Amino acid sequence: MAEQPLQRVVVAGGTGLVGRALVKALVRAGVEVVVLTRRPGSAVLPPGARAQGWEDPAEALEGADAVFNLAGEGIADRRWTAKRKQILLQSRVGPTEALVEGLRGCTHRPAVLVNASAIGYYGAAPDDTPLSELSPAGTGFLPEVCQAWEAAALAARSLGVRVAIARLGMVLARNGGALPKMALPVRLWAGSRLGDGRQGLSWIHLHDLVAMLLAAAGNPAWEGPFNATAPEPVSQAVFLRLLSKQLHRPLAPIPGVLAAAGVRLALGELGRDLLLRGAFVHPGKAEVLGFPFRFPSPEEALLDLL
Ligand SMILES: NC(=O)c1ccc[n+]([C@@H]2O[C@H](COP(=O)([O-])OP(=O)(O)OC[C@H]3O[C@@H](n4cnc5c(N)ncnc54)[C@H](OP(=O)(O)O)[C@@H]3O)[C@@H](O)[C@H]2O)c1
Repeated sequence: MAEQPLQRVVVAGGTGLVGRALVKALVRAGVEVVVLTRRPGSAVLPPGARAQGWEDPAEALEGADAVFNLAGEGIADRRWTAKRKQILLQSRVGPTEALVEGLRGCTHRPAVLVNASAIGYYGAAPDDTPLSELSPAGTGFLPEVCQAWEAAALAARSLGVRVAIARLGMVLARNGGALPKMALPVRLWAGSRLGDGRQGLSWIHLHDLVAMLLAAAGNPAWEGPFNATAPEPVSQAVFLRLLSKQLHRPLAPIPGVLAAAGVRLALGELGRDLLLRGAFVHPGKAEVLGFPFRFPSPEEALLDLL
């Protein structure tokens, strides 16, 4: 199906790691951008983008061609206490519901909502079984958050809005996100496998993610959930080996089991679910739709970013 050119879009959570890159690409393409943010007064945006608060999403959405929703508190920012878990859930479901309410209130509503979710939807796969969009939801906190988040976004379908849901893998970027945090111990000669290192690590280069979000907004063939991951997920041990090669540092001789115990101790459930478990998630839908990955392999991505 033909690409629809975008003229005016709304980006909720456009001040974050992914949002900033997306807004930059949109502005560069001549698209008018409104960023929904909790702090419109202090948001630093590229010229051509305008910040707006969450008081009246319908007003921002009226007449826009598309809305992207990336809002949510940082999943890995601090330990998952019961209170923190509630914040993580609410900071995703709440803004998504507010956007859908805003869409309901529009006379000329955007044709598409591109909503973030995460590969956390699938939970941990016990072995290296490849997962695709057809795989079922997992069990535990992250799958529950992702299911509630996606259900809130899919409610926009009843308003005639196409909903494309990007299940993001670990986003690799030069500044921000997980990569600098993973690279730091390696740079300091203290990089180590976590556990047996066989857990899947499904990632995507920020450049490809932005291109995929734009493709999903512009092309009606992107409908429902799709995995925003690169075609080559790898094990944690392989990723770490590539990182150590790229940074010209050997891995530290710390037994994986000891490193895993440290992670459990320091981060609790968050460390277990995000670092010690994983899954090999493939971008089945993107591949069927012929999405042109610029960084399909981790070697290419790391070479570009480090
Ligand atoms: N980066 C990854 O590796 C990764 C992986 C999987 C899934 N994801 C998901 O993809 C989305 C974008 O990721 P990102 O890395 O760009 O995240 P990020 O850098 O943490 O940015 C998220 C944005 O959400 C907004 N936000 C936070 N709490 C909010 C709340 N309570 N209400 C409304 N807005 C709130 C913030 O904007 P303001 O402060 O301006 O309001 C922030 O800029 C996130 O939802 C994240 O969970 C990311």
